[in-house]
Amino acid sequence: MSNMTVVGSLSTDFVVTADKRPTVGETIFGELFTTTFGGKGANQAVAAARLGGQVSMIGTVGSDLFGKEIVLNLENNSIDTTFVERVTQKPSGSAHITVVDGDNSIIYIPGANDEITKEQINLAQSQLESSDVVIIQNETPLDIIEQVIQTCFEKGIKTIYNPAPAKKVDQALIDQVTYFTPNESEFTLLFPTLTLSEGMAKYPNKLIVTMGSKGVYFNDGEKEVHVDSYKVTPIDTTGAGDTFNGAFGVALTAGLDMIESIRFGNLAAALSIQKFGAQSGMPTLVEMKESGLYEKEWNIK
Ligand code: RIB
Repeated sequence: MSNMTVVGSLSTDFVVTADKRPTVGETIFGELFTTTFGGKGANQAVAAARLGGQVSMIGTVGSDLFGKEIVLNLENNSIDTTFVERVTQKPSGSAHITVVDGDNSIIYIPGANDEITKEQINLAQSQLESSDVVIIQNETPLDIIEQVIQTCFEKGIKTIYNPAPAKKVDQALIDQVTYFTPNESEFTLLFPTLTLSEGMAKYPNKLIVTMGSKGVYFNDGEKEVHVDSYKVTPIDTTGAGDTFNGAFGVALTAGLDMIESIRFGNLAAALSIQKFGAQSGMPTLVEMKESGLYEKEWNIK
């Protein structure tokens, strides 16, 4: 079983569905309101844990009821919460999501997620060092992201940096990560002067661009590789990228090569978007195997 650490955000998602998005000054009737567990970090941790990863989460929640429920949800998904701190100065993080025709738009309020400290990361040093892979995203302050990636780089620990939502980052930081996984729009924002092909050629076997139903692209050092997505009808795409990253981490640490790890991630993401909510549809390993699309040679335990 792979030992994984996810550093990042923990939130409650406040989700409404409607048949369109309101324009400025307009009030429309929606269909449904619900609260679900979210936060890109927590989502990636849950995705990995459901697929058999032994996952520890590093992050921060508020001392409110939401924070309590968020931690409980991690524990219910067999995630180690030793390094999830509860702070009093800010409420727990939240995301305010509108889902129209299965696609989402999100306003993220970091709250307690921004209160994570360098000392907290230092305290989790031995956890980071014992990890087969460390996953991090952009709903966490940049100085913490830099500290985690630099520590892992110095200790030779593999990292998956999912730059979502997109934020400008230094070239030096990208150089230190093992895998860098923007989606198409994040790629454009991060590399405005590069075409997709130029970007992938610049970072072979590192830059993995996820493009939803169009699949995943990377350069293997000799050529561009396209890994197709699994074709499904989405109910809610929220958390698809998080599911991909968590599952990709599980597959890599189980010893699959890059292409098979991406295929494994794609299948997990395809299953996840067939249910409502970021985490509700994230498959277990058993569900992956029962899907009829699981490749026997993946042999993940
Ligand atoms: O990636 C999806 C997640 O991002 C949601 O669960 C929400 O918390 C947002 O911030």
